[in-house]
Amino acid sequence: MRLSWQDVEDIAIELYEKLPGIDPLSVRFTDLHRWVCELSGFEDDPNASTEGILEAIQMAWWEEWKEAQRGPWGGGRSPRAWQWREEERTMLADQFTQTFRDEHRKIRDVLLDLIQAFKERNGERIRSLLGQAAVYVGPHFRYEEEALYPALVDIFGEEYIEQLLGDHDRAIGTAQRLIELSEKDPLTDEDVHEATRLVRSVLPHVSDCDGLSIMVERLPEEKVQSILDAREHSIREGLDLLRWAGEVRNRPTVAPE
Ligand SMILES: [Fe+2]
Repeated sequence: MRLSWQDVEDIAIELYEKLPGIDPLSVRFTDLHRWVCELSGFEDDPNASTEGILEAIQMAWWEEWKEAQRGPWGGGRSPRAWQWREEERTMLADQFTQTFRDEHRKIRDVLLDLIQAFKERNGERIRSLLGQAAVYVGPHFRYEEEALYPALVDIFGEEYIEQLLGDHDRAIGTAQRLIELSEKDPLTDEDVHEATRLVRSVLPHVSDCDGLSIMVERLPEEKVQSILDAREHSIREGLDLLRWAGEVRNRPTVAPE
């Protein structure tokens, strides 16, 4: 957040957060001026302050401090600082939800196109779409398993998380079978029927998985950030689904029935 001398309330909250043990009324203006200028987001001209501004900051800081002393948050954050943090957390969760939704959209579209390509018996397109799916799904599954699912254990419990991992085991096995089918030439009616059934069997995972973001909204900011960091890492590593499953992931895959 960029701060100028006009942002009296925000400066007060920052000062309270940074120096919760200090009684603002005991602070000299020279120290107050220095502390404001030292705030990480402060970008205004140090010489542009006036005694009136410093006094307003001191009073706003004192309000924060007083509320913290007597309020239900005593010793912790003041209600306004708390609300501000809540807004930051919500913004991060929204960012996650958007990113997560965009990834599921891509995966959804590739899978629906794949059904069509099998129906048209278009071998080249089938192989190209399977390649795309592997590139999208590899890093996606990876950060889900390495960061998202562990973060959700406290909410859902171990059993449901194990079920989600089991869905991945089957999805990987299904991808392997679809690759086998894609190599057949010509594709028989039974092959097309099987491929359609297999792709449809993983579609609900895409829509169900997207709903997990509603629970991510309840996670603390640090956990949401760690999921987003794990996502960056998986994308940078860039292992497609089968390479990740074979080289990094430590679970068996399950062949489709
Ligand atoms: Fe997912």
